[in-house]
Amino acid sequence: MRYLPIDNQLFVSNRQRLIALLKPKSMVVVNANDIMPTNADGTMVFRQNNDLFYLTGVDQEETRLVLFPDHPDPKFREVLFLRETSELIEIWEGHKLTKAEAEQVTGITQKQVYWTSQYEQIFGQMVFEAEHVYLNTNEHSRADVAVQTRDARYIDSFRQQYPLHHLERLAPLMHHLRAIKQPQEIALLQTAIDTTDAMFRRLLGFIKPGVWEYEIEAEMMHEFLRNRSRGAAYTPIIASGANACVLHYIDNSAQCQDGDVILLDIGAEYANYNADMTRSVPVNGRFTARQRAVYEEVLRVMNEAKQLLRPGNLWDEYHREVGSVMESELINLRLLDRTDVANQNPDTPLYKKYFMHGTSHFLGLDVHDVGNKYRRMEPGMVFTVEPGIYIRDEKLGIRLENNVLITETGNVDLMANIPIEADAIEELMNN
Ligand code: GLY
Ligand code: MN
Ligand code: MN
Repeated sequence: MRYLPIDNQLFVSNRQRLIALLKPKSMVVVNANDIMPTNADGTMVFRQNNDLFYLTGVDQEETRLVLFPDHPDPKFREVLFLRETSELIEIWEGHKLTKAEAEQVTGITQKQVYWTSQYEQIFGQMVFEAEHVYLNTNEHSRADVAVQTRDARYIDSFRQQYPLHHLERLAPLMHHLRAIKQPQEIALLQTAIDTTDAMFRRLLGFIKPGVWEYEIEAEMMHEFLRNRSRGAAYTPIIASGANACVLHYIDNSAQCQDGDVILLDIGAEYANYNADMTRSVPVNGRFTARQRAVYEEVLRVMNEAKQLLRPGNLWDEYHREVGSVMESELINLRLLDRTDVANQNPDTPLYKKYFMHGTSHFLGLDVHDVGNKYRRMEPGMVFTVEPGIYIRDEKLGIRLENNVLITETGNVDLMANIPIEADAIEELMNN
């Protein structure tokens, strides 16, 4: 892996915290992700299953973790299965983890690390001692379940082979745990954010009239890759002028025009953790009065929203309050009329014409990370805060997005070092 080794205490403690949530006589089985095909014999870059990574730190395909904390024989309490290498694999694909290396990465003793070919034999000695078996499903509210994952296939085969075991959902437990970031996770996220900071400062010296959006993407990638990142945390949005009003614009194919604002929704990945930043900057280095007015309103909404990201607050109430702050700002900008707002249907607030997406989402191993929106905010949660105003008639879209850690007393902005004030942006672009 290109990222630096991670202290395996993180994964040991993650497993311990999961075990504390299980029913008695329970097993957990978590599978790696598949390597996804492209066409012919091509493959996409491997991306580990985030739950498996969270519990083991193993970033390799065809891995399987089995936990069974109440098994009478201690050697079956945690077991890892790995893809066994061969001379052929070493020649064509390169190095795969040895059992000793797997112990280093995971904290699972190498005596309990097996090759996947031994799975049936070892699993057969475990499964009949268990009453409950926790299996993994993708329960993200916007999950695309059209593609069957290795975990999903495993559920089918398990059901067929062991029809009388009680199946349990692992996902709610993983969502509960992963919503609260451990200090080591915050450090990894901060590395992704610091790389994003370096990238943004580099772009401020690069963006000018005539530059193409894809040239900006190339600059971005250069800065990410030289910092041990695998690249962008998500497909970057590099959207100048009217493109900024297309919320998921990823073509990045237009030439930047003098007088336009360019919206950059770009974050680095590091060790599977994801930064998620948005900045909107003037292509020629100076905002017009109108652009600056809209910019300042978006920044004000962001700052107000940050005040509301604190322990005890509820997701839906937070979003409602941010919506009413946005409403006032849109009235100030004369985009909404005060009387119309007073008479609006509260189920379809008028501000949604200009700010049509949510303000925050959980952030971590997934960009739109797992976590329950009905759970009150708690220290250790990380959220984005990303208000925007999109005025299609003016070919102007401005969004600002930072990543915020909830603490005992309020929150810490993990992106506090990344320039955001309009004056600071202009100064950096003109020096
Ligand atoms: N970049 C994805 C998002 O902001 O949610
Ligand atoms: Mn974003
Ligand atoms: Mn976001």
